[in-house]
Amino acid sequence: MFKVELLTRDGASIAFEADATQTLLEAAERASVYPPSSCREGGCGVCRVTKVSGDAELLSCSSAALSEKERAAGDILLCRSRARSDLQLTATFDQTAIGSAPEPVRTARIVEIAPQGSTTLRLVLQYSDDPTFGQAAQFVAGQYAELAVPGAPIKRSYSLANTPNWDGLLEFLIRIQPGGAFSGYLRETATAGAELIVHGPKGQFTLDESALAPRWFVAGGTGLAPALSMLRQMAEFADPHPCRLFFGVNRVEELFALDAIEALRAGLPQLQATVCVWKPEVAWSGFAGTPSEALAKSLKEEGPRPDLYVCGPPALIAATNSVAAAAGIAQDRIFSEKFSPAEGPVEKSTEPPGRRHLWPGVIVG
Ligand code: FES
Repeated sequence: MFKVELLTRDGASIAFEADATQTLLEAAERASVYPPSSCREGGCGVCRVTKVSGDAELLSCSSAALSEKERAAGDILLCRSRARSDLQLTATFDQTAIGSAPEPVRTARIVEIAPQGSTTLRLVLQYSDDPTFGQAAQFVAGQYAELAVPGAPIKRSYSLANTPNWDGLLEFLIRIQPGGAFSGYLRETATAGAELIVHGPKGQFTLDESALAPRWFVAGGTGLAPALSMLRQMAEFADPHPCRLFFGVNRVEELFALDAIEALRAGLPQLQATVCVWKPEVAWSGFAGTPSEALAKSLKEEGPRPDLYVCGPPALIAATNSVAAAAGIAQDRIFSEKFSPAEGPVEKSTEPPGRRHLWPGVIVG
């Protein structure tokens, strides 16, 4: 047995033992330590940590989950690594991200599937009553869940758009992917009352409640979902933080959830929302361009530098990072999700190690 020490971002030291035949993730879970994980097969990068000392065998994994640069920096994936000596590892997540029990797996029934704009579906589920969890939908605004179709190899992760509630309701905004397994199921097969399996909640893409800075959200396409969840949470608590939302799609016909954004004003009168259309092909009185371009314009104004919560595809995140750097916003004040080239057609997915998520399915920016 080898000794493994995992140091979290907030300085906690978590120890477990691992033998040479099991992955570090399996070894941790055997010791009732549940680090963030999602695919469990080297595809998502959620379980990425950095090796400080010791030797580990890294099994095959996707370059999207672990880039050459990350490998060179000593990063490994817990789900695809076996200990070859005692190990010291550092994590990008806090101790609170490590569970002490297996991730909840619950069933839910479809309450509603409704088109929103030309490329988005709104899916509402209701948890079935559960002997352990009851009916309540417990999660943190900004988190995601993995949805699976019982008896079929169809599963995808989507961010929750609503807030925790006692009614057991889960709302998702899902991009319709041509040929997409899950969105195809939703459009062609699923009906109200159908059962789905919900793994989660998962994820660390949540509000930094300790920060006093204004909160600005930059969302591309269905990247709006976690931003909406966090803003709705702020509205429920009448949170006084200054906040802005930059939300964009490619074309006017793709716009969705504008009513939900408008409804936020009841609890968040300070919210300024900029709706962006990248290529408006018809008359459009809103911002013509990407959310990051709208952000750049607003950052030219005087005022305290905001924390940025960025949800969307890689191009949007990269553009936002450059805009933020040029405006003097520190990298550690940007919380974002990155696109995951998931297996098969890309669908919305949020898979974060720490606050760094994977995010397929948003075509803006
Ligand atoms: S859980 Fe390890 S890469 Fe996905």
